[in-house]
Amino acid sequence: MDENLKRYILNIPKAELHVHIEGTLEPELLFEIAKRNNIELKHASIEELKQSYEFNNLQEFLNIYYAGAKVLLHEQDFYDLAMAYLKRAHEDNVVHAEIFFDPQTHTNRGISFETVINGLVRAQKDAREQYEISSALIMCFLRHLSEESAFETLEMAIPHKDKIIGIGLDSSEEGNPPSKFFNVFGKVRDHGFFVVAHAGEEGPAENVWEAIELLEAERIDHGVASIDDELLLEKLRDSEIPLTVCPLSNLKLKVFDDLSEVPIKKFLDNDIIVTINSDDPPYFGGYINENFLQAAQALNLTREDIFKLAQNSFKAAYIPETERQTMIDRLEEFDKKFE
Ligand code: ADE
Ligand code: ZN
Repeated sequence: MDENLKRYILNIPKAELHVHIEGTLEPELLFEIAKRNNIELKHASIEELKQSYEFNNLQEFLNIYYAGAKVLLHEQDFYDLAMAYLKRAHEDNVVHAEIFFDPQTHTNRGISFETVINGLVRAQKDAREQYEISSALIMCFLRHLSEESAFETLEMAIPHKDKIIGIGLDSSEEGNPPSKFFNVFGKVRDHGFFVVAHAGEEGPAENVWEAIELLEAERIDHGVASIDDELLLEKLRDSEIPLTVCPLSNLKLKVFDDLSEVPIKKFLDNDIIVTINSDDPPYFGGYINENFLQAAQALNLTREDIFKLAQNSFKAAYIPETERQTMIDRLEEFDKKFE
């Protein structure tokens, strides 16, 4: 790749809008936390664990991801996890991050909701001071579990409403369409949360329609299957519903055989607010800048495309208009001065 474009990608200020905090657990930190919590691991070494990170589909990844999250027991574990991510994201010039967390992964093991959220929130505050990175939390319901369990999780979240900007839907898409969560998202909206949903990752464009029309999702996570549906592309463009695409995730989970097939360029050409994100970086082989670099290489993205993608990340962020303008001003300043 052209050295200038590489430098542009690495340094451009950006927002990350699709990252699962449990999916940022680096093997080294996983081993460290397991040791201090006296948890015996299936893998004998960090190397051996890393070698298990080969997936044929989303479910194979999820099995390993949920197993990894079992080392997280105490508030400090959630703090260390989030702090490590925010530090790493700052190194990639992420100035704002919207972070998913999956409370059911923890509450179903007897960890309290408070343990999880207190650790995350403390890290958000410290990272803001230390790295000047702003961040927000999006709670996700695990879609392989029941809608009743989602209702219970929403109840646990209500006392912490001020710490959570939005509610999303993640985990196994196959057999668990957005319509399964129609009722609970009605309640989510009554509480005034921002609504997002993973849809059209492994599943069909129909799931993106359901997320928009039934759940009233305001941003779609992945949504790559939308490329198959002309009407849906029009809908995304006209309603300005952004997509948070994660190219290395799509490659590692075999959603596409090659990065050149990830439809980022096509979404850009269709004037859709598409963004680039990392999803679960240690599992998929790269943080946000690596996603930008490899996508740029595979799709022949230009400096103008990269600018647009970074601009889209701020357009798609769930932040007050004044903050959005400050971030976009900073982006334009960077572009103007770059040589
Ligand atoms: N949870 C963590 N990563 C995920 C992904 N890519 N899709 C669905 N659920 C997830
Ligand atoms: Zn995801």
